[in-house]
Amino acid sequence: MQIIIYDDSQEVAIAAATWVQSLIKEKENPVLGLATGSTPIRLYQELVTMHKAGNCSFTNVTSFNLDEYHSINESDPQSYRSFMKANLFDHVDINQDNTFLPTCNQDQNPREQGLSYEKKIKQAGGIDLQILGIGANGHIGFNEPTSSLTSRTRIKTLTQQTLTDNSRLFSENELQPAMAMTMGIATIMDARYVLLMATGKNKAQAVKDMITGAVSANCPASILQMHENAVILIDKEAASMLNDQSYYQWADKQNRKLNDEFGFYHNF
Ligand code: GLP
Repeated sequence: MQIIIYDDSQEVAIAAATWVQSLIKEKENPVLGLATGSTPIRLYQELVTMHKAGNCSFTNVTSFNLDEYHSINESDPQSYRSFMKANLFDHVDINQDNTFLPTCNQDQNPREQGLSYEKKIKQAGGIDLQILGIGANGHIGFNEPTSSLTSRTRIKTLTQQTLTDNSRLFSENELQPAMAMTMGIATIMDARYVLLMATGKNKAQAVKDMITGAVSANCPASILQMHENAVILIDKEAASMLNDQSYYQWADKQNRKLNDEFGFYHNF
């Protein structure tokens, strides 16, 4: 795991955007894994700014989102499709036919939908770079605690904590779905690079468990300790419960020196 601590959420967003930009520049047909939630909003704003300045074209990008609510219409303002359109897709030159979410409406079989999403990812050549946030309970995507560490795209029942955390995004008369389709933990682990962003004090415990706790289904994000290329981008508040902050900062300095001398290393 590469752990990089930034002063604030804006710096985290800029760092993540630089990773996405490098991927898009270097790969002919890049495949991006995307996330929703409040954390990546600033990343998407940075990408839109880069795009408008002529520094980032999404024409060859295929994208796969981590999750989508069960039984929600794509046009519903609460769907993750609507979120992606509002925050990224409608503001860049991505071909929206090449943007995928693990949808499952009321008439569809979630098991078949999950399998077909996995197939689509494989057909696209696999995910090069997966963007992730983290839930306060350590979830990634909607893989709640106790999710199988070898799970694939499927339907999940959300925990009360996640429902409460996300209720701020729903108005009183909107129905908050209690189930969602999500990429599995093994699906996420298959990505060539994983970029997890976490900001704010309310993520400090989950960040600590992910980085220094045991690898456990109780903290699904802890599986990233087993990923060859996991990069954790966090602000000071999210890092505040980590004991080894000075080591991570020192290691980051050394990595920057190596990058200056030998080039920024990644192998998408
Ligand atoms: C949501 C999403 C996750 C996201 C997490 C944190 O429920 N399914 O992909 O990372 O919760 O969200 P936020 O960034 O708003 O804190």
